[in-house]
Amino acid sequence: MEKMVNGKIIVRDLSLSHLEEVTAIEERSFPNPWPAYWFISTIRADVLTWGAFSGRKLIGYLIAIPGKDMIHLANIAIDNPYRRQGIARLLMKRLYVYARRHHQSRITLEVRRSNRSAIALYEREGFAQVAVEQGYYRGEEDALIFNLELR
Ligand SMILES: CC(C)(COP(=O)(O)OP(=O)(O)OC[C@H]1O[C@@H](n2cnc3c(N)ncnc32)[C@H](O)[C@@H]1OP(=O)(O)O)[C@@H](O)C(=O)NCCC(=O)NCCS
Repeated sequence: MEKMVNGKIIVRDLSLSHLEEVTAIEERSFPNPWPAYWFISTIRADVLTWGAFSGRKLIGYLIAIPGKDMIHLANIAIDNPYRRQGIARLLMKRLYVYARRHHQSRITLEVRRSNRSAIALYEREGFAQVAVEQGYYRGEEDALIFNLELR
């Protein structure tokens, strides 16, 4: 993947050498964090695994799974001190470019009903809620399904 520079932030592919940093951000960001082996399999698989770096330091990531004509945005997190600086939007914009280049017509994702910051981000980006998956998160909380139509 080409590097992209926005101010001091560089976006590049994650590798297994970033595993410790990724899982640390994940654990700080989610009530039910992905285990390390999920990251290992996504980094090894045919999946988009992009890190946002400030210098050599990983400060956030986006993981997305391209399908036949849509992309599933599986995970996005920005480490707490770096939030509200447009870094999630930067990663998402990169995803739209990728999706359009690969003739994908939709980006889909699920988000906890209580996750107000993420919902605000997706709504600002033009995603629309299309469904609710009841009890999606371990039976404890619903997921809202959001889609962004690219055509
Ligand atoms: C959700 C998350 C990825 C947003 O990352 P971020 O880099 O802070 O987002 P951005 O700075 O790009 O925000 C873009 C816009 O989203 C909205 N937004 C983001 N965080 C918000 C918040 N806490 N409250 C209200 N609106 C928010 C705003 O419209 C914001 O634009 P503005 O700052 O100009 O008002 C980040 O809060 C995070 O990592 N949360 C924990 C992990 C998580 O919940 N991931 C989503 C899983 S579905």
